[in-house]
Amino acid sequence: MNILHIDAGITGDASVSRLLTAEILAAQIAQNPDASVVHRDLAAAPLDHLTGAHLGGTAAADDLAAGQAALQEFMAADLAIIGAPMYNFTIPSQLKAWIDRLAVAGVTFRYTENGSEGLAGAKKIIVASSRGGFYSEGTAGAALDHQEAYLRSVFGFFGITDVSVIRAEGVAMGPEARDTAIEQARGLIATIAA
Ligand SMILES: Cc1cc2nc3c(=O)[nH]c(=O)nc-3n(C[C@H](O)[C@H](O)[C@H](O)COP(=O)(O)O)c2cc1C
Repeated sequence: MNILHIDAGITGDASVSRLLTAEILAAQIAQNPDASVVHRDLAAAPLDHLTGAHLGGTAAADDLAAGQAALQEFMAADLAIIGAPMYNFTIPSQLKAWIDRLAVAGVTFRYTENGSEGLAGAKKIIVASSRGGFYSEGTAGAALDHQEAYLRSVFGFFGITDVSVIRAEGVAMGPEARDTAIEQARGLIATIAA
């Protein structure tokens, strides 16, 4: 089993999404001790934004190679654990830059006469979502969720249907709310690892 562990939080040791991806990973390894793990820290080593030169294949060789490496890691993964903080109602730009390297026609999707077709379907995704406020279904903030909803859309576009979200929300509402959110997320981690 190949596990890809992605972090994108910029808040270092205070990062809730990093805490959750680490605990999700530990639970998965406990179940699959022989799993091989690749960790990509998009805050420590961000990928460049896409450019015209990248699309034209004339970008610097190291930039093209970095994008290829990210794509190959993703395609090789049976499970991707993705730390996805909400920053300004959406995902961190570092995480978006990574997704921009994955959305490659003929690899993760293709267009057919009948519309688009995802090509990366045989894969499981676990998103570790952390949010300062509340955006779950039924809350007043739900329409402002361009983070989890976006990730579900893009992985759905790649053909991936097995997407779970471990969510800690309301973490900016004080230390008690933060602890409660993390404890709830831990309960979910135990459930999906079971
Ligand atoms: C730059 C930045 C932007 C943020 N934007 C939002 C936001 O739009 N909505 C929200 O509810 N919380 C927002 N927050 C709070 C984070 O979602 C929350 O702290 C979460 O834990 C971030 O994940 P992390 O701890 O892994 O960094 C923001 C935090 C930062 C640092």
